[in-house]
Amino acid sequence: MNPNSDHAELGPALQSLIQRAEQALDRHLPPADHSPAELHRAMRYAVLGGGKRLRPLLVYAAAHALGHDSTALDAPACAVELIHAYSLVHDDLPAMDDDALRRGRPTCHIVFGEAMAILAGDALQALAFELLADDTLRQTDATTGIAMLQVLGRACGAEGMAGGQALDLAAVGQRLSLTELEHMHACKTGALIRASVQLGALAAGADTNTQKALDHYAHAVGLAFQVRDDILDVEGESAVIGKTAGKDAAADKPTFPSIIGLDASRARLRELTDHALAAIAPLGNHAGGLRELALYAAHRHY
Ligand code: IPE
Ligand code: IPE
Ligand code: MG
Ligand code: MG
Ligand code: MG
Repeated sequence: MNPNSDHAELGPALQSLIQRAEQALDRHLPPADHSPAELHRAMRYAVLGGGKRLRPLLVYAAAHALGHDSTALDAPACAVELIHAYSLVHDDLPAMDDDALRRGRPTCHIVFGEAMAILAGDALQALAFELLADDTLRQTDATTGIAMLQVLGRACGAEGMAGGQALDLAAVGQRLSLTELEHMHACKTGALIRASVQLGALAAGADTNTQKALDHYAHAVGLAFQVRDDILDVEGESAVIGKTAGKDAAADKPTFPSIIGLDASRARLRELTDHALAAIAPLGNHAGGLRELALYAAHRHY
């Protein structure tokens, strides 16, 4: 990690993994000039040209923490980012958060229309599983490949991201308890972040104890990431965060700042980051990428 960094920026090793993930995403997305071209363009628009790529980075960093190199990680890294991109396209739809700005650009449905945005989300989700399954077919260890498919399926389904999004919509105008809020955040955002770490761990052949330690880390980072997102919605500026600031309060969504206030939200963020770092302390130097990502999740400005 760059010792001079304030943790709001990623160091060169993780930056180069972002490039690696982006090249792989570009390769795996359907070409913009092939039919159905409008759908392909919407898919490419939703995935390429922006985004922190935190979830692919977690796949690579979790495997690196176990001494594994980056080969054979591109498929799971792309799969989690495709699911994430799909979730953002649907999250921004008028029926959900009705947002016009994402990653500093008009949202997918503003550019391509609602019907195409829904289909782009559907197709990105399908592509994620296709990619992981293709990879499984090529692997000699099909059991691990199937376990990875199961992890991803659970993370984006009714007990994971989609379930969390349903809780989020049902919570509009409600006063949730802190426990209910954390559960909602753990599902809508935490589940895919946990899956990213689990996929890296599975690819690297982690033993049960190591998987548990990594899962504690991922649970804390997943929650911390959404706490930071809620804080940035209050404190951030649209030009920096790349999405419309103040949207949560305007839509009457329960968030960390609205329920416990900004100071307590910052304290919870520190506590979660400490938990995350403690969980991976036994992994030593190889876990440098994971450490950097936990700090980045908590300190990022966008
Ligand atoms: C935004 O995720 C939605 C949440 C789950 C909080 P990111 O902040 O990771 O979005 P990008 O990919 O960097 O745009
Ligand atoms: C989105 O949470 C979570 C998912 C997309 C699954 P938010 O609604 O808070 O994300 P932003 O703030 O629009 O990025
Ligand atoms: Mg939302
Ligand atoms: Mg939203
Ligand atoms: Mg938000």
